[in-house]
Amino acid sequence: MDTITWRENPFRDPKPTAHLTPFTPVVAERVLRYHRSWPRYQKTPLWHLEELALSLGVGTVWVKDESYRWGLKAFKGLGGTHAVGRCLARELGLAEVPPYSALATLTQDRAPLTFATATDGNHGVGVAWAASQLRQHARIYMPRGAADARLQAVASAGGEVHRSDLDYDDLVEWVAEEARKQGWMLVQDTAWYGYEEIPTWIMQGYLTLMAEEFQRAEGGVSPTHVFLQAGVGSYAAAVTAFLANHWGTAIPRIVLMEPHSAACFFQAAQRGEGTLQAAGPIRTVMAGLACGVGNPAAWEILRRWVSVFVACNDAVTERGMRILAHPLGSDPAVASGESGAVGMGVLSSMAQDNRYRDLRAALDLNQDSRVLLISTEGATDPVMYRRIVHAGFTPPGAS
Ligand SMILES: Cc1ncc(COP(=O)(O)O)c(C=O)c1O
Repeated sequence: MDTITWRENPFRDPKPTAHLTPFTPVVAERVLRYHRSWPRYQKTPLWHLEELALSLGVGTVWVKDESYRWGLKAFKGLGGTHAVGRCLARELGLAEVPPYSALATLTQDRAPLTFATATDGNHGVGVAWAASQLRQHARIYMPRGAADARLQAVASAGGEVHRSDLDYDDLVEWVAEEARKQGWMLVQDTAWYGYEEIPTWIMQGYLTLMAEEFQRAEGGVSPTHVFLQAGVGSYAAAVTAFLANHWGTAIPRIVLMEPHSAACFFQAAQRGEGTLQAAGPIRTVMAGLACGVGNPAAWEILRRWVSVFVACNDAVTERGMRILAHPLGSDPAVASGESGAVGMGVLSSMAQDNRYRDLRAALDLNQDSRVLLISTEGATDPVMYRRIVHAGFTPPGAS
């Protein structure tokens, strides 16, 4: 059975602070221009699920579908391409990152750099692909239990893959230390004290998925609610910062979602203090969200602007995957993976199940609500996708 635990944000204080400065509309526009210069760049689709909205009793449901991103099946390439580009620009002594073709020309006669990262898969695919497109080298370290399909995806994107027997959070520390010893360029998608610049470049890369939708002259989205999933929280914080810069205190309600066993932000809100470490072993099918240690820079944004923190079990995202795969009426089908569909799972449970009526009320979710969900990945683990969507399978031991 699906289970959702939630908590209104006790820290909410939506005032602009310096933490929003790296994510202004001007920066987002610049990053979008850079991404547009990359080969095969295309804006990802924004689906309008009208029949589903009717059945859930809300006004509008939009799903931004990142499974189409560069054919890499997840949004993460936005961070990898931006960070790799900024690192190379810095090596070249440039203050700004030039367009892709100029960067490729300027770096073609130089010895390649080695970029390194720890990853559950999607970030590694992004970094490997970005590095290989610019003839650089990428060493990608994957945690214990990483699915074979995810390893293969990193290798196909041009990365040198290493499987580790460490869990993700320990692996991040190990790769950081190894990169320091070996002189590799660490491109990690989370920050810690003394390692902030490259994670900020990665987060700025994520702005493109918002800038594509919000900077259109007319039309576009004007949500009342935005559902964001968190692993280390970098992605959710970048999107939140974009929205905070765009709307200020009139920002849509932000729902931050994590798997129960990796809910470091939810637990910080429960405890009323900001230690970003989830208690206990992590067991979840949401591989991209299986991070027990949050990004403190992301927290500085999330703690001020999020409305509600949600922790949920795997049944919630599995339901979301099935709903997206089996559309109602003329709505389009969306292939959404385990970390991509949790927003749909939470929304549908919240809208239809009376166990969550207080949550619905806290968020003022009703027939006038316009909800934006972001399916951050497609079927990145096709075997698991088929088990869940076709066979309704829940892995043993999953929370
Ligand atoms: C598909 C997907 N969605 C969401 C996330 C969460 O991003 P973050 O770790 O920045 O919170 C990830 C992270 O890898 C992911 O792969």
